Parts: sequence; structure tokens; C-alpha cells
Amino acid sequence: MQIYKVGGAVRDRLLGKPVTDIDWVVVGATAEEMLANGFRPVGSDFPVFLHPKSGEEYALARTERKSGRGYGGFTFHASPEVTLEEDLIRRDLTINAMAEDDQGVLTDPYHGQQDLENRLLRHVSPAFAEDPLRVLRVARFAARYAGLGFRVAPDTLELMRQLSESGELEALTPERSWKEISRALMEDHPQVFIQVLRDCGALKVLLPEVEALFGVPQPVAHHPEIDSGVHTLSVLEQAALHKQPLSVRWACLLHDLGKGLTPQSEWPQHIAHEHKGLKLIKCVNERFKAPRDCQELALLVGQYHTHGHRALELKPSTLAQLLQSFDVYRRPQRFEEFIAACEMDARGRLGLEERAYPQADYLRGAATAARTVAVQPLLEQGFKGPELGEALKRERLKALKAYKEQHPQ
Ligand code: CTP
Repeated sequence: MQIYKVGGAVRDRLLGKPVTDIDWVVVGATAEEMLANGFRPVGSDFPVFLHPKSGEEYALARTERKSGRGYGGFTFHASPEVTLEEDLIRRDLTINAMAEDDQGVLTDPYHGQQDLENRLLRHVSPAFAEDPLRVLRVARFAARYAGLGFRVAPDTLELMRQLSESGELEALTPERSWKEISRALMEDHPQVFIQVLRDCGALKVLLPEVEALFGVPQPVAHHPEIDSGVHTLSVLEQAALHKQPLSVRWACLLHDLGKGLTPQSEWPQHIAHEHKGLKLIKCVNERFKAPRDCQELALLVGQYHTHGHRALELKPSTLAQLLQSFDVYRRPQRFEEFIAACEMDARGRLGLEERAYPQADYLRGAATAARTVAVQPLLEQGFKGPELGEALKRERLKALKAYKEQHPQ
């Protein structure tokens, strides 16, 4: 049997990037031989094994043929006769279809190295279409390598367009889609992920609520970029520049969905878009079964981002309600993430990327002021149950009034 390093490990070494996990392909072996050598099988009908010591994945060289819709609709053909070239041709991109032997000799039948040099994300063969998830993968690689100047090859974009129009994307499971989306959002240029999905017509299938933002104007005084979709991409770009966590990036992507529902007659105003957007955010959250922290933050940011921007003008009672809605007394971190998302929203506007955002410190200070109200003295005064809750609210409001007086605009 011959063993080769394949996929991302070869690609990233050639790009001079750190290699995190290594995938191997085994040519000329049977499953029985692998088991006899101590490899552990991963699935029952999937010819992939784990190395007994390193735990890395070793796959038998295989060909795949599509037998139905969706990811389940595959039959695998793995046998010792399948060649390395046959295994590589069924892979997604040429830059992912190179192999390296233990001497470091490269097998590159589909010119991946040339595409690396030309900064091109290009499909290997028509077999690309066998897995619709690859539409998301290519967009994710575009987001990852945009800084190096990579772009999607025109033919590949066309194939992605055909796949998007074919209805195949609907067959993806929420779990597989979310894995790609969440990884893409954590790349250096997540806005490129959304842009590429849009360019190939996948955005209107996967996230029609985001697609609907493009072409919707906002008031130029607050939004020199005007277009709501362009704004959303800029907010995402800012979130990545400021190294925000996934929950903040997800909230940034969805914060303005309500603007896509505004009747044209009301443009460029978007009255109550924060509230109108909530049902859309809920729907997107559920479509991808996003993790709970992402879901919650997206809804809260959707509802309250304008409060964030107006923080310095808010009445103490509104501030108190805002802090309560975030359960800031038990979940201080979530409020920090809200502030971060608001700041990214404020900076994701043409020419305003470097603006100061004094609202952030003001909100932090308000949260601290409200949190310093101690329960103990109230207990000592004999408050209990619902009355204790009311007394706490009164004291917090008092603290917020004092805070506002100390911080006049
Ligand atoms: N692959 C593919 N089609 C998919 C998934 C994977 O062709 N839908 C192939 C590619 O050759 C890829 C390899 O399997 O390089 C390993 O896949 P994976 O580990 O998911 O990705 P990597 O390319 O290693 O990239 P990453 O750095 O994102 O892990």
C-alpha cells in the first residue's frame, strides 16, 4: 500500500500557512488490511480509518457516485484498484486535490499548484456538483484567502450558480450548513463569504432575508454607503477586523433584517425595523439550528441596537429596562457582546470606520452603576420575595439617575 498526505495539509504547506490537521489517503489497500494494521474504522460503510496512535484520518482511495439527493445519496467505491488520480478527481478544488508522499514528492494531476500561484479557486471536475455543500465551502475558502488575493474561477462560479438554481442546497442539513457558515464567519474576511454566495445565487436560497437587504436604501446622513446590504457586509468586515467572537459576528449579519421588510414608499426610513426584524432573525436562527448564545445575542442585538446608539440620550428608566432585558446582573458577558455588536454597526458605514463610539463606555459604566446596588441592605430592611425585586429595581433606577447626572452630554 502507498500512503499520501492530501487535501488541506498539502495546500496550506504550499501556501506557507500552519497545518493543523492532516488527512491521508491510502492506495492499494483493503479495509481488512487496514484493520489488521490496527487502524480503527470511523463508520460502518465509509472507508475511513483512524490511525491507532496519531488519531489522524486515513481514507482508502475511492470514487464516489451520486445515487440520490442530498448528502446521504452517495455510493462509495473503494478498492485497491482505485488510483490516486481517480481519488483526487472527485475532490472539490484543484488546490485541495494534491497529494504528497513521504519523500515530499507532489502528485498534482489537476494543476493545483498553478492555481495556488494564480490565486484561483477552481473546481477539479464536473464531480464537484455531487456535493452541494461545496458551494458553501468555496465561499468559505474565498473568505479565508481573500487577503492573499484569491478569487473564484468564472467556470466554478457558474457551476455554483447551477447548483444553487437546481434546488440541491435545500437538501443540506442544518448541521452541515451551520458548520460551514460558522467557520466562514470566523475567517478574516467573512463579508467575502456572503458576497460569493450572493454572486452565485446561493444567498437567496440560504439566507433570502440577507439577500433582500441589497438594493434597500437607508438615510445618507447616517449611512453614507446608502445600501442596507452593503452596510451589513461592512459591519461584518468590522467585526472580523476587531476579532469579535462568533456570536457577535452572527448578530452583526442579522441585525438589520427588518429593513428588508420596509415598504418601498417609506424608504429610506425604516421605522420600527428593529422590532419587525425579530421574526426573521428567529426564522434564520432556527433554519440553521444556531447555538443558543448566537440565537439569543442576534435577537437582542436586532431588538436593541438603536438603543445602543442612543445610549447617551436614554432616560434612566429606559437604561434600567435595557439592562434588565439583557439580564446583565447574571450575564455581564452578553451585554459586552451587545455593546461590541453596536460598535461594529456604527463603524460599518462608509467613511465612518474609525469614528469614536463613546456609547460603549457609557453603557459599561451604566451596567457597573446598576450592578453596584447591593442586595444585603435591602434584606436587612426586611424586603423579601416580589417586594425585594421591586426594591432592587427602585435602587438600581436611583443609581442610574445618579450615573446620568454625573455624565451629562
Ligand atoms: N473534500 C471535498 N469535498 C468536500 C469535503 C472535503 O472534496 N465536501 C476533500 C478536499 O480534498 C479537502 C479534503 O477532502 O481538501 C479534506 O477536507 P476537510 O478536512 O473538510 O477540509 P480541508 O481542505 O482540510 O480544509 P480546512 O482547512 O478547512 O479543514
